[in-house]
Amino acid sequence: MNEWLELILRWFHVIAGIAWIGSSFYFIALDLSLKQNKNLPPKSYGEAWQVHGGGFYHLVKYLVAPSKLPSELTWFKWEAYATWVSGFALLALIYYAGAELYMIDIIKYDFEKYEAVIISILGIIFGWLVYDMICRISLKTNVYTLILSIFILITIMSWIYSELFSYRGAFMQIGTVLGTIMVANVLMVIIPGQKKVVASLIKNETPDAKYGMVAKQRSLHNNYLTLPVIFIMISNHYPIIYATKYSWLIIPIILIIGALIRHFFNVKHTGIKPPYWIIFPIIILLSLSMFISNLGKPKLTKTNQNAHIIKIIPEPILTNAQEIIISKCSMCHAKEPLWDNMHSAPKQVMLETTEDILMNIENIYSQSVASFAMPPGNVSFLENHERAQIEELYLTILNLTKNK
Ligand code: HEC
Repeated sequence: MNEWLELILRWFHVIAGIAWIGSSFYFIALDLSLKQNKNLPPKSYGEAWQVHGGGFYHLVKYLVAPSKLPSELTWFKWEAYATWVSGFALLALIYYAGAELYMIDIIKYDFEKYEAVIISILGIIFGWLVYDMICRISLKTNVYTLILSIFILITIMSWIYSELFSYRGAFMQIGTVLGTIMVANVLMVIIPGQKKVVASLIKNETPDAKYGMVAKQRSLHNNYLTLPVIFIMISNHYPIIYATKYSWLIIPIILIIGALIRHFFNVKHTGIKPPYWIIFPIIILLSLSMFISNLGKPKLTKTNQNAHIIKIIPEPILTNAQEIIISKCSMCHAKEPLWDNMHSAPKQVMLETTEDILMNIENIYSQSVASFAMPPGNVSFLENHERAQIEELYLTILNLTKNK
C-alpha cells in the first residue's frame, strides 16, 4: 500500500511539475519573443505569431491590462499549487514518516522524529519569509544585489541543514525550500496582484502598473530557480552528489549552472545570438562539483589491527568486509529485516550471504564508500576503517575481474 501511495503521489507530482514548468517556460519565451507593431490595439505592448498543432496563434500582450476586461480569462495557478501539495505530501510520507532513515543523522544531532519535522517546516517558512523580505526591500535597488542576497541565503541554509540533518535530508530540505519559494511567489504575490488588477478593471479604474512589475520580477526568479530545483529533486538517486561531506556546496554551484542555462535560452528566445560562451563556466563549475564530491567522500583510514592481513591474502578481505556488512547492513537488508516496521529488504537489496555481497558490490561501494548514503544517517555506526575494508574488497574484486 505504502509503495503504491508513494508511486501515485510521485506520478502526480511529476506531472503537475511538468505542467507548471512547461507553462512557465512557455510564457517566458513568449514574453521575450514579443514584437512591437504600430497597428496593435491600444495599451498593448507587443505581439507574437506562433504555429502549433495544425493552427496559427496570434498572441498580444497587455503590460498592465487591456482597456476592457474580456469575458473569460484563463488563470495559471493550479499547476503550481498541485505541484507543491503533492510534493509536500511526498515529503511527509517519505522523509517525515521515515525521519530516522531520511532526515536524522544521530552523529550530527540526535533529534526526535517530531523535532526534525518541526525544524524542517520552520526552515521552509523561514526561507520564504526572508526571500520575500529581500525582494520587497530591494525592489528599488540594484538587481545584482538582490540576486546575490538570495544566493547567499540559500547557501547559508544549505550549510546549516547539512550540519543538522543527514546528507540526504539536508539536500531535500533545500529543494523543498526553493520549490516553496517558487509556489509562494505564485500564491502570495503573482496571483493576488493579478486579482487586484482585475478588480480595478471591473471598477473601471486604471490598475496600478506596480503589480505587473512585481509579478514579472517573481516570475523571472521562478524561471531561474526551475532547473536547480529539478536537479536537487532527482539527485536523491545519486549518493555521490547528495551524500558527501561538502554536498551542501554543490547546491549553490547548481544554482549558478541552472541560471546560466536559463540565461542562454532566455537570450535565444529574444532572437539575439545566444551566449555560447556559457559552456565554459558550466564545464568549470561541473568539474568543480565533481571535485568537491570526491573531496568530501568518507575519509578512509586503514589503521586497524587487520590492516596488514588485508594486504596479503584475499581471503580475510572477503571475510572482514562480509562481517562488517552483515553486522552493519543486514538488519535492514535481509529477507526479513529486524529493523522496526521494515517488512522487506529496501530496494530489494539483500546483504546476507557472500553471493549477495558479491552481486551488489558496486552498489555497496557507491552507497557506503564513495558516499555516506548508507547506512542511512549512519544508524549502525559504520566506521571509516570499516568503509575502507569494504573498499578493499571492492578493489580486489575489480582487479580480479579485470585480470580475467
Ligand atoms: C536502517 C536500515 C538500513 C541499514 C542499516 C542499511 N540500509 Fe541500505 N537501504 C536502506 C533503505 C531504506 C534504502 C532505500 C533507500 C531509497 O529509498 O533510496 C536502502 C538502499 C540501499 C541500497 C540500494 C540503493 C539504490 O538505490 O540502488 C544499497 C546498495 C544499500 N542500501 C546498501 C547498504 C549497505 C552497504 C549498508 C551497510 C553499510 C546499508 N545499506 C545499511 C536502509 C538501510
